[in-house]
This record gives sequence, C-alpha cells and structure tokens, in this order.
Amino acid sequence: MSGQALFLTVALLVCAAECRLVQAWKKSYVVYLGAHAYGPDASVEDHARATESHYELLRSVLGSKQMAKDAIFYSYTRNINGFAAYLDHEIATRMARHPEVVTVMESKMLKLHTTRSWDFMDMERDGHILPDSIWKHAKFGQNVIIANLDSGVWPESHSFSDEGMDEVPKRWKGSCSDSVKYGVPCNKKLIGAKFFNRDMLLSNPAAVDGNWTRDTEGHGTHTLSTAGGRFVPRASLFGYANGTAKGGAPRARVAAYKVCWSGECATADVLAGFESAVHDGADVISVSFGQDAPLADANSFFHEPVTLGSLHATIHGVAVVCSAGNSGPFEDTVVNAAPWVTTVAASTVDRDFPNQITLGNSAHMKGMSLESSDLHSDKLFPVINASSAALPNCTANNLATNCAMGCLDSGKVKGKIVVCVRGGDIPRVMKGMAVLSAGGAGMILANGEMDGDDVEADPHVLPATMITYSEAVSLYKYMASSSEPMANISPSKTELGVKNSPSMAAFSSRGPSGTLPFVLKPDIAAPGVDILAAFTQYVSPTEVSADKRRSEYAIMSGTSMACPHVSGVVALLKAARPEWSPAAMRSAIMTTARTQDNTGAPMREQDGKEATAFAYGAGNVHPNRAVDPGLVYDITPNDYFTFLCSLGFTTKDLSRLSAGKFACPAKPPPMEDLNYPSIVVPALRHTMTLKRKLRNVGQSGTYRASWRAPFGINMTVDPTVLVFQKAGEEKEFNVTVASQKDKLGRGYVFGKLVWSDGIHYVRSPVVVNALD
Ligand SMILES: *[C@@H]1O[C@H](CO)[C@@H](O)[C@H](O)[C@H]1NC(C)=O
Ligand SMILES: *[C@@H]1O[C@H](CO)[C@@H](O)[C@H](O)[C@H]1NC(C)=O
Ligand SMILES: *[C@@H]1O[C@H](CO)[C@@H](O)[C@H](O)[C@H]1NC(C)=O
Ligand SMILES: *[C@@H]1O[C@H](CO)[C@@H](O)[C@H](O)[C@H]1NC(C)=O
Ligand SMILES: *[C@@H]1O[C@H](CO)[C@@H](O)[C@H](O)[C@H]1NC(C)=O
Ligand SMILES: *[C@@H]1O[C@H](CO)[C@@H](O)[C@H](O)[C@H]1NC(C)=O
Repeated sequence: MSGQALFLTVALLVCAAECRLVQAWKKSYVVYLGAHAYGPDASVEDHARATESHYELLRSVLGSKQMAKDAIFYSYTRNINGFAAYLDHEIATRMARHPEVVTVMESKMLKLHTTRSWDFMDMERDGHILPDSIWKHAKFGQNVIIANLDSGVWPESHSFSDEGMDEVPKRWKGSCSDSVKYGVPCNKKLIGAKFFNRDMLLSNPAAVDGNWTRDTEGHGTHTLSTAGGRFVPRASLFGYANGTAKGGAPRARVAAYKVCWSGECATADVLAGFESAVHDGADVISVSFGQDAPLADANSFFHEPVTLGSLHATIHGVAVVCSAGNSGPFEDTVVNAAPWVTTVAASTVDRDFPNQITLGNSAHMKGMSLESSDLHSDKLFPVINASSAALPNCTANNLATNCAMGCLDSGKVKGKIVVCVRGGDIPRVMKGMAVLSAGGAGMILANGEMDGDDVEADPHVLPATMITYSEAVSLYKYMASSSEPMANISPSKTELGVKNSPSMAAFSSRGPSGTLPFVLKPDIAAPGVDILAAFTQYVSPTEVSADKRRSEYAIMSGTSMACPHVSGVVALLKAARPEWSPAAMRSAIMTTARTQDNTGAPMREQDGKEATAFAYGAGNVHPNRAVDPGLVYDITPNDYFTFLCSLGFTTKDLSRLSAGKFACPAKPPPMEDLNYPSIVVPALRHTMTLKRKLRNVGQSGTYRASWRAPFGINMTVDPTVLVFQKAGEEKEFNVTVASQKDKLGRGYVFGKLVWSDGIHYVRSPVVVNALD
C-alpha cells in the first residue's frame, strides 16, 4: 500500500513539471545478480557477453529485446553483476522473483552527509614532522591511490598540484574522461576524474549541473583534499585557521568519481562509481554520503548501494571508508554500518573560533564565528528579535524569525543587532546576508531547543556570532527584562590548544546499529568539526543573491569531513603495510585508538556528559600507533560470506555473490563470532561465549589479556596468555559474558578488553545488553 502512495506522489510531482503521466510511473531500479565468474582480466568479449545476458534477462520479462535495451542505462560488467534500468513497478516486481536475481533495489537518493586537525593527532607538532610519525613510515602515502565518490573535484586547487611527482603507477587503469569545456584534466597527482549521472538525469535532471566531474558545491574538493591533498602552506579561510593545509596522505594519488549532484547521490550512479573505482585500481574508496536514516533491518541490507558496492570492493581487496551520518546525538542513527566498511564518527579538534557577546547589563556570553570585523568596540547596539521586525508578507512559517531574505523590515532593524533563529532550511550565512541587506549592524544566530549545544563557526558577512540554546534562553530573558535591550559582539579569534578535546560532535550519528546490532558501529572517530580544506571556486552563472565570496580553502563540519581523515590513514597504512587486508587495516586503526581527551579524562560529549562506544566506536583515531598495532583481528571475504549466511542469506544467494565459490556452512556460527575488533552482544540471555582470532603482525611476544567487564556482567577470557613465536602466527581465544541477575535492566553497558605485550596495547570495546 505504501508503495502505491509513493508512486502517486512521484506521478504528481513529475506531472507538475512536464505532465507526462505515463512516463511518471517508471522509476530507476538496480537489478543485482551477484558477481561475475570472470576476474579483473576479463576480455572485451566477456564484458559484451555479460551485457548481452542482461538484455536477455530483462527481455524475458519485458517481451522485447529492443525495449530491454532502451530501458537499461547501466550494465555492470566488471566487479558487480547487474544492471540499472528504467522500469514500471510491476516489471521490477516480476524481475525480483526471477531465479537469477538476488535483489532489486528501487533507486533512492543518498545525501552528502584542516590545517590543525593533523597537528592535533600528533603526526607533527609546531610544523615539524615527529620522528615516529606514520607519515615517515608510509612515505606520505606514496603511490597509494585514493578514490573519492562525491560531488567531483576542483582540479586547479593547489592541493592537487603534481609538482615533483613521478609517473603514475602502471597498474592504474583510470583516466579523466570529461570531454566538455571546463572538464577536469588529469595530472600526476589527480589521476582520475569520472562522472556518473544517468540515474540522476532520469530521477531529477535539474540537479545535474554539467556532464563533467567539476565540483560546483565544494564538498568533493574538501573531502578529497582532506584524504590525499598535498601540503599547501598559508592556506586559510579569510585569515582564519591560517596554517598549512594537509591531506592525510599527501603523496598519494587521488581520483574523483562524481556520483553526487546538488547534494544528492542516486543509487545506480553510486554503484557505477564503486564499480569503476575498483576496476580502475583504487586502493581506498572514501564515501562521505549515505542514507538519511538507517535501513529498517538486515533483510533490506542489499537495498542500498553503499552496502553492496563496498562488499564487492572489499572482496577485491579495496578498503572502503564511510561517514556515519549527521543525525546525532540520538541513538540508532548510524548509517553505512556494513561490517566490511570502516564507519567514521566526528570529533572536535583543539581549535575554536570564539567571540563574545556583551549585554547592556554587563553580562557576557560566549559565541562562535569566523567573522573578524567588529562593531565599534566601546559602543552597545540595540538588539531585537527578527520576529518583531517581520514584513507583513512574511508571517507564515517563521520566515522572519528564521531571517529569510526579504522578510525583515529595514525601518525596524537598521543599525541594530538582530537575533535570528537557526533552521527553516535557510543556510546560516544567508541569514546574515538578510540582516545586512535590511541594514542591520550585526547578528546573533540562536540555536533552537532541538539544536542544543551544537554551534558552528561560519564565515559571516557582518559582525555575527552563534550561541547555544541555553545561552539563547538567557539572552531572551535579558531582552524581556529590559526596556531597551543592548548588546555588542566582539571580533572572533582563533584559539588553539582548547582543553577537553577531542569531544564528540553532537551531530555525529550514534549506535547501536538497528540494522545490524551484532556489529558495533561507528567504528572510529576522527576530526569532523571546523575542518579547513580545499574548496570549489565555482560561481554559478545564475546565482543571484547568494554568497559570492570564494576562498581557495574553506572550513566545513560533518562526518563527511571525519571520513576522509580515516581514508588518508588507511592510504598511509597501505603504503607502509601493503600486505594487510582492508579488515587488518581497520583493526589496526581501531585497536590503537584513544578514548581519552587531552586532559587525560574519558572523552566527552559536547554537552559534557561522558561519551560511550556508541558515539566513538573504538575511540579517536591515533595514526602513529596504527602502523604498529602488534596484533590484528583479520576478516577474509569468506568470513563475510559466512556472516551473510548467519544473517539468513541462502546458499543460492551466496553462490551468486561469490560467483559459485562459496557455500553456506550447514550450521552458520552466531553473528557475534565475526572476527571483529570490537565485541557487542545485543541480546544476552544468561551467558554467551564468543570466538576471536588474533594474528601477530609484529615481533614474537607474549600477550596477556586484561579487561574491565561491563557493569553487571561477569566476563572471562580463555586463555589469558597468548604466545606468538613469529610474525603471521594466529591464535584463538574465547570471551564469555554472563549477566548478573540482580543487575539487569540497565540497557547497554560498556567495558573493554586489552591484549598487551608491554609495548603494544590491542584494545577492543566490549558492549553488552543483558536481557535476562
Ligand atoms: C548531459 O548529457 C545528457 C545526455 O547524455 C543531456 O540530456 C543533458 O542535457 C546534459 N546536461 C548538461 C547540463 O549539459
Ligand atoms: C597567514 O600567515 C602568514 C605567515 O604566518 C602570513 O604571511 C599571511 O599574511 C597570513 N595570511 C592571512 C590571510 O592572515
Ligand atoms: C515581502 O515584500 C517586500 C516588499 O514589501 C519584498 O521586497 C520582499 O521580497 C517580500 N518578501 C518575500 C519573501 O516575498
Ligand atoms: C524572541 O524570540 C524568542 C524565540 O523565538 C522568544 O522565545 C522570545 O520570547 C522573544 N523575545 C522577545 C523580547 O520578543
Ligand atoms: C572456545 O570454546 C569452545 C567451546 O565453546 C571450545 O571448543 C574451544 O576449544 C575454545 N577455544 C579456546 C581457544 O579456548
Ligand atoms: C559473577 O561473579 C560473581 C563473583 O565472582 C559470582 O558470585 C557470580 O556467581 C557470578 N555470576 C554469574 C552469572 O556467573
């Protein structure tokens, strides 16, 4: 029934635009068939035969080969077997019942979810590279290839200059394929640029800004330069955060796959991007977008392109790193939570951009801004609510309260500081423009109740600051108490070494993963607040009143910014430890992470409460340690297949996924036994024993287990001593958790397990929800 309702809405929308009701009943679908029997060296004929089989399969349902050819707009013939087609709902349903088909996904829209950030992680200090820096071990990521699926790239940025770089590695099969004017050219640093928009052209053609890989939004340029941009001295945004902009792996090669258009990324385009990046020879794929909300359950696992594309990447040995989403601080909001990706949460860095509000009663409050021009410092200005300066045509939908452009009465705001409320789908900087254009002297941007303490430093166009909800409440109280409320805003400054950092960003999505509670997600936290990185210089020819200022570097926040930090670290690990699998690299990153802040206290939430593993996973990334973790928890593609069997996928499905190479075991093990570097038991009844296996990736050594059991849980480890004679050796152990009956009903509780030889500390979070 809900499917029907959805289709009606689509029909009406399209009808409003062009009124072709018949067409409107069609949608993009991806028909997923598993893997191809051939490998990466398949011939042109193999690919042609695969495409032909796709036509044939669709013909068997549509009746005509020509109709099948017309409907198919991607034929995935490399590492993924399947096709994308524009189909009626009924045809898609029939296709899903076909015995050769694993799943049919309806196309959906996924959404796009630094100078100081690297210093902060101890890779360098005061501009000097520390001797034990992973940068040295990894030769700055030399010759590792990072692919970024995102909104494209601004190739002229200094972050992508190829000065002094050698020839492109021979194994690289990618290219820069733009053929239009202003298309993206390749050099020896930026070695690939491809765009995928066939699904978007069918689903929302207005979102497509050009048939090119050029980044017109800035997001893709920012994320790619964070992962693999070179060092650029004196990068700054209008003078703030002035320092050297650095990518995580500054000597890595980078490639941009533009699959996102106007902030949205369509299913079939995303899958095409994954397929291409794996085929071209990427070592790491960075994905800073995802679904708005988690998948309902594991049954819908393969109804989402990041889960599917990343599985195929992992099978081919390519590591995939994803953002966790920006729907925090609420629980069960984490997305991109498949066990074969690294899911990254956002933490703060020790840098702030504070300024101060002085009120007429001499009280002060702290705000946040990147705007340095000041109001005359000794003078106070009248302060008013935007809502009390509403133009008559702007009373609906809080337009004036939210400071929509053209909604403020200049007679009332001229020369005053205007209080605007956050939200209403109006960009924060635009609110300042609305105040400025109505003649206001300054702006205080106030959080609403739902926004809480999450304030952002923005490059405003007038003296401005942003305040938390609790500060907003005191401001309103003062304004109500005074007949002539007055205020001043000081210019903001860059403050370094801010204490109690990192803390977890309020916006960062949290576990547990409702889709897959057996795997602790997110995996790791990395800097994602106020990150300086390269940006687009694009100014749309049709842009009217928006912000036309362009800085080569921009400060952005989000798990989108956290993800490429970890992609950069993975690239460094790939350079330093080329034989490691994607799971071994993730294990190294997770087991060496930190859970304390720079005061030695447990990492906190932005509001001061102690954070848990559902916010940061294993902790905040600590790259220098990751290169020498001592031991790793590895996972092979077959282990993932076994996990899918445990999840309920059949031997027939697994045969398709593995091109006939894998069959489910007769009695699949519990999902908790996946050899993950963290342990979560989502529904403990009495007692449970989990298995884990460690591999020695360092010298010989004797490792001893120590642990802190979660509250109300008895925990034992068996054996408690593991002796490794040589590198590569593997040892198994069991962890048993048992609930203490008198301490039930506390929901999830948190502990840890550490294996140490006195030099290395291999740390895993342990999370248990005891039911009885
Ligand atoms: C991109 O190419 C498609 C055809 O492949 C065309 O329909 C569309 O108008 C082009 N878009 C732009 C912005 O040039
Ligand atoms: C950034 O710092 C450098 C040197 O420290 C200085 O020369 C430059 O003017 C500064 N840039 C801005 C925009 O403040
Ligand atoms: C409201 O009316 C004023 C003219 O009185 C106009 O300039 C402004 O654009 C209008 N605002 C909106 C949101 O329509
Ligand atoms: C200003 O606006 C806020 C939020 O919209 C409201 O709570 C407050 O009462 C208003 N104060 C005045 C003095 O209008
Ligand atoms: C782990 O426990 C299983 C039984 O649950 C047992 O068969 C196995 O030998 C144990 N492994 C170790 C290393 O103790
Ligand atoms: C947990 O440990 C305590 C103390 O060692 C013991 O008294 C209790 O029986 C144990 N409970 C379970 C369920 O194993």
